[in-house]
Amino acid sequence: MTTALGIDIGGTGIKGALVDVDSGELLSDRVKLATPAGGEPEAILATVVEIIAKLGGVADGVPVGVCFPAIVKNGKTMSAANVSKKWIGLDAEALFEKTLGRDITFVNDADAAGVAEVRFGAAKGVDGLVILTTLGTGIGSAMIYNGVLVPNSELGHLEIGGKDAETRASFSAKERSRLSFHKWATKRLQKYYSAVEFLFSPDLFIVGGGVSKSHEEFLPLLNLATPIVPAKMRNNAGILGAAALAVKTPEGVA
Ligand code: BGC
Repeated sequence: MTTALGIDIGGTGIKGALVDVDSGELLSDRVKLATPAGGEPEAILATVVEIIAKLGGVADGVPVGVCFPAIVKNGKTMSAANVSKKWIGLDAEALFEKTLGRDITFVNDADAAGVAEVRFGAAKGVDGLVILTTLGTGIGSAMIYNGVLVPNSELGHLEIGGKDAETRASFSAKERSRLSFHKWATKRLQKYYSAVEFLFSPDLFIVGGGVSKSHEEFLPLLNLATPIVPAKMRNNAGILGAAALAVKTPEGVA
C-alpha cells in the first residue's frame, strides 16, 4: 500500500485526507475547514497547517500533494481567476515546504481531478484524448492523452463569443443568472462543449464539480459527437489526485 496526504484548496473550503494511492480509498476522516475570507496565501497556509494537525500522526512522513485553483508551473502559482491576486507569481510550493518542513507537490485543482479519474474513475483505461472539465465557481480542465496528463490546459478561459467561457458556462454563472438546468445546458454548456469539441476532437468528456451529482438534469440535453459522462470521484477528486501526484512514479504522472 502506498499512502499520501491529499489537500484540496477551494474557494469556500479546504479539505484534506490520507489516501491509499493504489486503491483510491481514504484512510482517514476527511477534514474540512472554511477557506479564510480573502483567500490570501498566508491565511490559507495556516488553515492547511491546522488540517494536518487535525489529521494527527497518520499524516507524519508521507508525501503531501496540494491542489489549488490556478495555473501551477514548477510549484509557482501563475494566475488567480477566483482567488486573491497575491498568488500570482508566488512560489507556493516553496512557501508551503518551508512552513510544513517537508516536500510538497503543488498542482492545479482540475489537473488533480483529472488524474484521480485516470487512476480510479471514468478515465481509467481510456485511450486517446480525455478532457475533464469541472463546473464550479470557474471551469477547470484537465487534458489527458493516453493516460498522461498535459498540465495547465485552462480551457475554462477559452474566449467564446468574445467572453471568457467560465463567466458564461460555469455553475456559478448558472446560479448568478438564475438559469434552469435546461437553459444552462442548451444555451451555455452546449456552446462551450461544442467549441471545445471542435478545437480538440476528444474521445471522451468527463464532467466534474459539485453539480455533476445532478448530471441527469443536464448532460442528456447536450448534443455532441463525443461521449460525455459524469466524474466518478465527486467530492474527493482533488484530494485523491493531489495525493496520487505527490507519489512519484517512474513512468510519469498518471
Ligand atoms: C482557474 C483554473 C481552475 C478552475 C477551477 C479557473 O478559474 O483559472 O486554474 O482549475 O478555475 O477551479
